Amino acid sequence: MDYTLRCESCGASYSSSYRKQTCDRCGGILSVAYKGRVKPPRFDGDFWSLESILPKSRYRRYELGSTELARSKIPELWLKLELQNPTRSFKDRGSVVEIAKAKEYGYKEVVCASTGNMAYSVAYYAKLSGIKAKIFISRDANRDKIRDIRETHDANITRVDGDFTEAQRRASNYAKRCGSFLAGDYCYRQEGQRTMFYEIASQLKGVTHVITPVGNATLISGMLKAAEEMKVSGALEKPPRIIGVEAERCSPMFKAFRSGKPMKYEAPKTMADAIAVGYPTFGDMAIGMLKRQNGSVVTVTEKEMALEQNRFLSEYGMIAELAGVAGIAAYRKLRLPKSAKAVAIVSGGNV
Ligand SMILES: Cc1ncc(COP(=O)(O)O)c(C=O)c1O
Repeated sequence: MDYTLRCESCGASYSSSYRKQTCDRCGGILSVAYKGRVKPPRFDGDFWSLESILPKSRYRRYELGSTELARSKIPELWLKLELQNPTRSFKDRGSVVEIAKAKEYGYKEVVCASTGNMAYSVAYYAKLSGIKAKIFISRDANRDKIRDIRETHDANITRVDGDFTEAQRRASNYAKRCGSFLAGDYCYRQEGQRTMFYEIASQLKGVTHVITPVGNATLISGMLKAAEEMKVSGALEKPPRIIGVEAERCSPMFKAFRSGKPMKYEAPKTMADAIAVGYPTFGDMAIGMLKRQNGSVVTVTEKEMALEQNRFLSEYGMIAELAGVAGIAAYRKLRLPKSAKAVAIVSGGNV
């Protein structure tokens, strides 16, 4: 779709030929504003049947997304198996959009900050597209993930002495200094992630709740945007409630959502590395949308995630990471009515 970009902080507007994902005027994050109403296409089981809702670009049709919505052992709960993506997490949905844009704008290198999965995904699609990838990875990122990224996808990795927020700062400085395309949790990724909501809405008619882990809040804000689009277009009469899940030991968005106070940075202390984000980039945007759409944010403990991870393996024979099962762990505490048709996003399986 044709679109413009709008700065979330100062309101500056840019055409789609603008080659960056942050505002030149104030450094704020941008969002994609489509020209005209988004018309939800029919999802036919192929990710690319949703191409018309993505920012216009020349996409290479890699196989991704279209993940299974499996029935869980709990009658009211379905599992969106995002670990079926090529790099075993939902990140691929956003990466194909970002990398297509980087290629379209003629960049030879992308740079991004990551707790692991994003780097894995960005490096994978960058390599397929013949673009170099430079990654700043947080101190606590999983070593096996880092080895895979370096060895399989030839990315140049710098491990920072700090958390994800510090890695983001380093990546952004690098982009300015070296003229690389700043990839990661920015507007084009958000657009790609929202395809997951379109898939769910078509895979489960009458879905009442979507429960999703939250790190930088790119996925949840993308899904909230998709829910709004489907409602406005009339494709969904009653969109499901979207519920974000943070780790109790790293829950800046939960605290801001519940207290009504501005979000504050919190040093992450969770073992769930993929959601160890002390200040979610899209947190404020997601909170605003959750309030408008009657959504919510909850937390899960380290123990709850660890138990769920073991249960997931023994019940389904699949390995998911801690963040990946946070949605199922949260479901158990939510006590939804028997009439619910809830979906927990199993977001990733890289351990
Ligand atoms: C497996 C997994 N789950 C959840 C998340 C959180 O997604 P977001 O950062 O878009 O909130 C991430 C982010 O890295 C992830 O890798």
